[in-house]
Order: sequence, then structure tokens, then C-alpha cells
Amino acid sequence: MKDITMELNEEKTEEEGSTPGQNGDDDMNKETKKTKVKKDRKLSVSDSLKKELTPSQIVAELDKYIIGQDNAKKSVAIALRNRWRRKQIPDNLREEIMPNNIILIGPTGVGKTEIARRLARLSNAPFIKVEASKFTEVGYVGRDVESIVRELTDLGVTMVKSEKSIEVQKKAEFLAEERLLDILLPPVKKKTEDANQATLGFTAAQNESDKEENFKTREKFREMLNKGEMDERIIEIDVSADGMPMMQVMGPIGLDDLGVNLQDLFSSVMPKKMKKRKMTVKEARVFLVQEEAHKLIDMDSVIKEAIVRVQEFGIVFIDEIDKIAGPHSKSQGPDVSREGVQRDLLPIVEGSSVTTKYGMVRTDHVLFIASGAFHVSKPSDLIPELQGRFPIRVELNSLTEDDFVKILTQPQNALLKQYEALLKAESIELEFDDEGIVEIAKIAAEVNEQVENIGARRLHTILSTLLEDILFDTPDKIKEKKILINKNMVQDKLKDIVKNRDLSRYIL
Ligand SMILES: Nc1ncnc2c1ncn2[C@@H]1O[C@H](COP(=O)(O)OP(=O)(O)OP(=O)(O)O)[C@@H](O)[C@H]1O
Ligand SMILES: [Mg+2]
Repeated sequence: MKDITMELNEEKTEEEGSTPGQNGDDDMNKETKKTKVKKDRKLSVSDSLKKELTPSQIVAELDKYIIGQDNAKKSVAIALRNRWRRKQIPDNLREEIMPNNIILIGPTGVGKTEIARRLARLSNAPFIKVEASKFTEVGYVGRDVESIVRELTDLGVTMVKSEKSIEVQKKAEFLAEERLLDILLPPVKKKTEDANQATLGFTAAQNESDKEENFKTREKFREMLNKGEMDERIIEIDVSADGMPMMQVMGPIGLDDLGVNLQDLFSSVMPKKMKKRKMTVKEARVFLVQEEAHKLIDMDSVIKEAIVRVQEFGIVFIDEIDKIAGPHSKSQGPDVSREGVQRDLLPIVEGSSVTTKYGMVRTDHVLFIASGAFHVSKPSDLIPELQGRFPIRVELNSLTEDDFVKILTQPQNALLKQYEALLKAESIELEFDDEGIVEIAKIAAEVNEQVENIGARRLHTILSTLLEDILFDTPDKIKEKKILINKNMVQDKLKDIVKNRDLSRYIL
């Protein structure tokens, strides 16, 4: 505290020298700059919400990450656009228009999940991916299937909440700053100065000048705060003792089923415990901004909006759906549970209400995308009712050597780019020449053919084998600043393994 007052006195003299207008202007500039940045960020968020991509734009976006598979891209693009179209239609007809649920059929590792994942990011809609096979466990059947919708709703709420918190960010930052200033500089009168002024006969104006003094100091502090000059100072703030260890409360299974968390219930009834915590100003600012943002958000409206968004725009991706399809059999055993899962899925896919902790959520217009390799079973092995709810079927192609070359190099997150970036962190420039890349693709295709076709995943295993030594020896042994991977090197490293089928079965 002592050094704060000292700094203060020094600054006061400085300030007296400068013209008041200057400082004010400076602050204004900073303020407008800050607002501008915030505005830009806010714009981009709401923009992406409003801006609905046309089908061809959606495909173009998907093209950035996924090579080929044009039919699949087309169908998902149409399905996505249709939800926007549906939104524009008058109420009575709108209710009638059901989503075009899709089944993606194709061998493993050709981009089925990847398409769904990218689609979710594009659509800015609540998206959940589940493995159908997870629901086969007998005993869980029936219960867990509804949890899909519950989780989707949770995601929706989180999503809307984080959007809202961006909206209130600026205000929260301002309030947090005020609170920080209150902590750093409790609004008290400075006795000595008061006394001085009193003896000088300023009694009438004293109050006013006190206020002004407080204000000036506060602004001075604000400036220091914003310059980060106080970042390392330790202060004490009240935090609610949320993380306090509490007995795990187990409710009866039924409650858990509803997504009701007893612990949540209890903690909302019990008085909030506060405790003091020491932290640096920098940490405190982050903490307080979060706390203020939390207070500013109206959870009721967040939940309302989230439920609408889940109902109208939610996407459920059911992976491995072929695992729950099997030739119809009358026998007991796992088939029973498979069909059981299908029957459980049916009401959700068909449209029903699911109770979540945020209220009822209807699933009529949720878009379902299922995917499966369908090696053993066929889509027609699904129960007819379920087949009917997935009217669109798209086949994805196996990937060829040419595709592999493109997958290695073209997508924004292409594997080669990833490795280049990893080694760049060690200041090493990793370069693949064209022939080297073709060789990698060729080997991948070969191994896929000879051992097992795992699609583009093969590239991961091959590259990690190829680059293992380099990744291990950097930076200790490798002193070169540039490493070129060419055809010879790829062959040296991999030919023996590829030739030996037993070896490649284990390594690649
Ligand atoms: N067409 C493609 N273009 C670019 N990358 C691809 C493509 N296909 C697959 N990949 C890459 O291969 C990996 C596996 O793909 P993905 O998860 O989509 O397989 P999948 O088709 O869902 O297989 P599975 O049936 O086993 O679930 C991902 O990392 C993905 O980036
Ligand atoms: Mg998959």
C-alpha cells in the first residue's frame, strides 16, 4: 500500500503539469480503438450466424478439407440449406417439412466423419456425434438413446451462452475494471490532504475537491492498469467457493436419467460460500470479467434460445450405424440388443419429446446423419421403419493413389503441413518434393490393398513411420536447417516394411 501512495504522489505532480485535455483525448483514442476491435469481433460472430451459405458455397467450404466424395458433399449441402429454406416458409407448411436424414455409406477412413465434423462447424448448429455401437450394451438400451438429445441440448446451451458472453464482453470488461479499481483503491478520503486543505480554508469546496481527487487518482490507476503496469501486483478478491469438495450425491437412477444433477440442486439451495483468494491483478481481471459476464447473461433467455436452436437446427451424427444393423434373426443374443437399439432410436429420429434438464425438447426437425461402412450388413438390414426415416443414401468412394496425393497436400489441415509446422517449431524446414509425395501415396495405396483398406488413415501410420527418426533426433542430433524428403528417402525408409507383409501388418 505504501508504494502505491508514493507512486500516486509522484504522478499527481506530473499530472498537474499536463493539460487535462490531453489525457482525456488519449483515453478517448484508446477507448475507440478498443471498441473498434470488439465490434469487429462481434460482427464476425453474428455474421457467421446470419450468413447462410448456399449449397455450392457449402461444398466449396467442405472442399477445403475433404478431397473428392462429391456426392456426399452435395447431399449434406442440400440438407443444410433446406433447413434455412424451411425457416422461410409460413408456419403451417413449415411444420410439415421434415429434414432429409442421410445415410453415408462407405469404407472406413474415406471421410464420412470428417464431412459431418466440418459441416457442423460450418452450420454453427448444435452438433453431436455418437457411436451407434455404444448403445448396444444390454441394460443401457432405451435410456442412453435419449441422452443424445440431452447432450445436444447441453451443447446448444453452451453455444448460445458463449455467444451471449461475447455480446456482453465489453460491458463485463468495464465492470471488472471498476471492481479492480475498487479493490486497488478503496474510495476513502485522504486524511492528510483533507487536513491541509482545511487549514488553508477550502472547507466549502472540500467535498468537491475530494471527489475530484478520488476521480483523478482512479483515472490514473485505470491508465496504469490498462498499460499493464499493475499486472504483477497481488490482490485479494472474494471468490465463491464453488470448487469446494462436496460429497458426491448419488440419486436414484431415474433422476440421473432426467439429467437432473442433485449436486446442482443442492448447491442452488445452500448459501453460496465465499472465500478470499490471492491472485495477481492480471489473473484477477480475467476472473472478474468472467464473473461479470456470467451475471450479465440472462440464463432463461439463453435456455429458450438454445432449445429453439436445437429443435430447428440441431444435427445428430450417428456413426457406425451398420454395427446395429444385422440380418434379421429370430435368435437370442446380440441381435436382440441391436434391433433394440434401432427401436429405441426410432422415436427420436421420427420426432418425439425428450425431457432434458432445460425442459422438453422436440426432435422432429433435428437432422440425423448416419454413417457406416456396411461391409457385413446392408442398409436394408435396418428395420424398415428406420430405413424410411433415412431417405437419402450416399455412397462414398474408396480413395485412390491420386486422392492420397491431394489429401497429403491440399486440405488446410493437410498432414504434410502439420508435420512441417511441427518441425518449424524446432527451426527446421521440412520439405517434401513431388516425387516423394507420390511415393508416399503409392505406398499407402499398396499397403491398403495388400493388408487392409483403412483409407486415408493409412497416411497417418506411414508418415509417422517415415518421420519417426527425424522427429526423435531433433533437435539433439540433427543440425541441418533444412530436410528434404524425396523419393529415395521414402523408399529407403519404407520399402522393406512394405515388402514384408507380416511386418507391414504390425507397423504400417
Ligand atoms: N476424402 C478425404 N479428404 C481428406 N481427408 C480425408 C478424406 N478421407 C479421410 N480423410 C482423413 O482420414 C481420417 C479418417 O477419416 P474419417 O474419420 O472421416 O473416416 P470415416 O470415413 O468416418 O471412417 P470410419 O468408417 O472408420 O468411421 C481423417 O483424419 C480425415 O482427415
Ligand atoms: Mg467415422
